[in-house]
Amino acid sequence: MRILVTGASGLLGAHVMAALGLRHTVVGIDRHPWWGDSPVQLVSGDLCSPSFVESVMSDADPDIVVHCAAMVNVDACERDPAAAFECNAIMPRRIVRATPPEALFVYITTDGIFSGDTPLVTEEEPPAPRTVYGRSKLRGEVEVQRATTNHLIIRTNFYGWSSGRKTTSAEWLYQALLSGTPITAFEDFFFTPTYVVDFVQQLERLIESTHRGVFHMCGGERVSKHDFAQRMAASASLSPGPISRGSIDAAGLLAPRPKDMSLSCARAERALGLAMPGLDRGLGRFLADRLVPLSQRLSRGIGGAVDE
Ligand SMILES: NC(=O)c1ccc[n+]([C@@H]2O[C@H](COP(=O)([O-])OP(=O)(O)OC[C@H]3O[C@@H](n4cnc5c(N)ncnc54)[C@H](OP(=O)(O)O)[C@@H]3O)[C@@H](O)[C@H]2O)c1
Repeated sequence: MRILVTGASGLLGAHVMAALGLRHTVVGIDRHPWWGDSPVQLVSGDLCSPSFVESVMSDADPDIVVHCAAMVNVDACERDPAAAFECNAIMPRRIVRATPPEALFVYITTDGIFSGDTPLVTEEEPPAPRTVYGRSKLRGEVEVQRATTNHLIIRTNFYGWSSGRKTTSAEWLYQALLSGTPITAFEDFFFTPTYVVDFVQQLERLIESTHRGVFHMCGGERVSKHDFAQRMAASASLSPGPISRGSIDAAGLLAPRPKDMSLSCARAERALGLAMPGLDRGLGRFLADRLVPLSQRLSRGIGGAVDE
């Protein structure tokens, strides 16, 4: 298969490149350099440029497009809605329309398209985003659905080790625990996080299946940010001392976040024939991978098990 991956130098895109590159021909697109340990084919450019999109699509002629590039900073989206919609709605529309009609289009989207008033929402729940980021990503979903039926729209929330160019929240948390720097973790903000390697291995299995449509794919446990911090400290055998309890209501964040972003993954579990990994298992893999080169993180078995 020929697979085109956008956002290939980002947290998710790099892991997708490393995983799918084991058995397929992958071409990545990003505006930042490749940071993995194995060489890959990476085309550098701005995906907001229509002529660039046309030219890479015609050169790559992909069987599958995995669209990971996005404007992901929630507060930056709130400050500049026009840029958010350009990157998270217009860009995917342009890319999906330039994709060969028979190709599978995989659109990575977010738990942030829901209001956050209900725990463990299913794919049947009507979206009601509170933030510009959520609204722009939802618009991207609609553009993909309009352009092709051969799509996978995957709503998720993952953590992992990045290039280090932008510190991820899990990296920030681990560093704080390691250095004993005091941090506040919200006890009234819930999510279902998954380790990016587990996510990518499950995504690969879904792509190779005949299932198409909208899927929630994240971790098997709903936890607060405070629980997540405590459980990371325990898994890493580090002191939870630096973690204090806080409320998202008191944080003064620019974008009004949904407070419960947890997703039900029952549809994906049925499709994949496995249970999403619990938090301790994901954190164990995350911590074990800290010094492991990107290519070697993907060589182990798929996360999740039918008997979990
Ligand atoms: N991280 C999460 O937990 C999470 C949760 C839900 C959904 N998602 C979705 O998952 C996807 C990947 O997220 P991520 O955390 O891996 O993001 P990321 O690390 O920021 O990776 C995205 C990459 O795409 C690049 N990019 C963005 N716009 C581009 C453009 N116009 N031209 C070329 N490259 C461009 C980014 O560069 P810049 O850094 O310069 O923008 C970055 O290198 C996104 O669609 C996001 O909405 C993520």
